[in-house]
Amino acid sequence: MIIMKQQEHIPVLLNEAIEGLNIKEDGIYVDCTLGRGGHSSYILKQLKNPGHLFAFDQDQEAIEASSQLLSTISPHYTLIHDNFSRLKENMISQGIPLVNGILFDLGVSSPMFDQQDRGFSYRFDGPLDMRMDQRNPITAASLINSLSEKELADIFFKYSEERYSRRIAKQIFLVRKEKPILTTYELVDIIKSVVPAKYRAEQHPAKRVFQALRIAVNNELNVLEESLDQALDLLASGGRICVISFHSLEDRIVKNKFKEVSSPATWNRNMPLVVDEEKPKFKLITKKPITPSPQELEVNPRSHSAKLRIIEKI
Ligand SMILES: C[S@@+](CC[C@H](N)C(=O)[O-])C[C@H]1O[C@@H](n2cnc3c(N)ncnc32)[C@H](O)[C@@H]1O
Repeated sequence: MIIMKQQEHIPVLLNEAIEGLNIKEDGIYVDCTLGRGGHSSYILKQLKNPGHLFAFDQDQEAIEASSQLLSTISPHYTLIHDNFSRLKENMISQGIPLVNGILFDLGVSSPMFDQQDRGFSYRFDGPLDMRMDQRNPITAASLINSLSEKELADIFFKYSEERYSRRIAKQIFLVRKEKPILTTYELVDIIKSVVPAKYRAEQHPAKRVFQALRIAVNNELNVLEESLDQALDLLASGGRICVISFHSLEDRIVKNKFKEVSSPATWNRNMPLVVDEEKPKFKLITKKPITPSPQELEVNPRSHSAKLRIIEKI
């Protein structure tokens, strides 16, 4: 059992994900979501030369904070400041055609979420930013102030099933005619002004809109879909992919992709056997997702929506 000290970001499903990777000490591993190095440091501790860890993050602050931590463990790692949508391209340029394990721990890290000036949280007043990659030209403010009323409503509905998506989009449209909406609290006030009091009592009224905007700003769902394909391609035989997701839209993408590649390509009822070429190249390790234990939930309530799915290359 790995026990983490209380720190800025508490790694979610740490034991389960590390066990799930089934680490070989001389293997090549990729952590697509380095964050504060919580999972990466436990992968790195298990590796011996020629074993190596490649860790991606699109957030400059995550790269800086984690490089200090990892350098105290071992030299067998490489940090890559890039989007994991360029996973394969980066690994090829590192001279690595196949790897033994890949981890995705999706979403934002706690320090990122709690930092007022990153604009991810409705709990703090800050710029409407929400970019995980500070080099990205699109911010939440640019979407809020430039998309049409319908486009905004669609984003709120599609990415978070916001019940009052149209009402909120309409009010944003009216307010921004007078002046641009630039801060998190301005947006929170707009939302509060149009949703019913009953809804406000159920949950924070801005929760869903903020989730939807973050997904849109960072193009999270398309990136996940493309990157899973690349990860499956990169996997050596016996290698595993572990994905920790935090909401149903992400989990659905992972679940469907893993199901698709672990099922026979076609099933012909006239043929008694599945021919070799049609046999799946992957096997599901988790038929049902792994979720946090009651002990983990107690220490880290933020892990409550986490789901871990694991697949192995045959
Ligand atoms: C939940 S945190 C990971 C926490 C990490 N496992 C730990 O225990 O410290 C997710 C991290 O992935 C990064 N991230 C999310 N999507 C990304 C993407 N498409 N490309 C690269 N990094 C990404 C975020 O910037 C964030 O630092």
